[in-house]
Amino acid sequence: MAPHDDRSGVAEEAMVAEAEKRPIATIVIIIAMQTEALPLVNRFQLTEDLDSVFPRGVPWVRYHGIYKDLHISIIWPGKDLVLGVDNVGTVSASLVAYASIQALQPDLIINAGTAGGFKAKGACVGDVFLATDVAFHDRRIPIPVFDQYGIGSRKALSAPNLLKELNLKVGTLSTGDSLDMSPHDESSILANGATVKDMEGAAVAYVADLLKVPVIFIKAVTDLVDGEKPTAEEFLQNLAAVTAALDQSVTKVVDFINGKCISEL
Ligand code: ADE
Repeated sequence: MAPHDDRSGVAEEAMVAEAEKRPIATIVIIIAMQTEALPLVNRFQLTEDLDSVFPRGVPWVRYHGIYKDLHISIIWPGKDLVLGVDNVGTVSASLVAYASIQALQPDLIINAGTAGGFKAKGACVGDVFLATDVAFHDRRIPIPVFDQYGIGSRKALSAPNLLKELNLKVGTLSTGDSLDMSPHDESSILANGATVKDMEGAAVAYVADLLKVPVIFIKAVTDLVDGEKPTAEEFLQNLAAVTAALDQSVTKVVDFINGKCISEL
């Protein structure tokens, strides 16, 4: 095994610190569902990248353009090539996060989308959350240290000024590959202290952490996981209206980011 070189870590930290003082120029917004992505594509007047930066044959779609002083790419993992439904979940989210960072070298990643909320923790349908931290709830490995690896808890970029300006709710986001919630998931979500639950956040956080790109999570609540209604029904019923709230919040966040550096967020 090659010896670990501490100097490369120090140099990397210095580069990250330097980048935090430059105005943000390039952002990548990762959104899992087409219904969630298209209003923002229109809002920022982005166009589909026909000469794809991604490998030939993958369904991943990039919309991009210039909005104010920012180069924005919205990355949607596209539809399953056989079943024709949106590629939701952690596998596609990690792949597009990795490929987008490699190809576009963004200054900031925004993972935006819908989420289930817990009314016991103060969430209501239509609320938009900025997650303070993220963790997985369906990677249970009951062996010392592997247990923490499975949970994969990570912090989002701290953005106190953004929070003050936009008046978003804050909470922990818990991620798993199911829309519903098994009893096992429920106890892990409780242990994670989560207020919202999605299917991508912690996977995007893992990749962003590996490649040292700051990331924030904007999640709009379509359904109350601890409410009376069946999750899938409530999700589909509220998807269109809540997507409009998500669209508004993401636009405000992008407007706030414009002209600022990471350390000013
Ligand atoms: N996205 C919207 N609602 C969700 C839920 N209940 N669980 C996971 N992801 C979601």
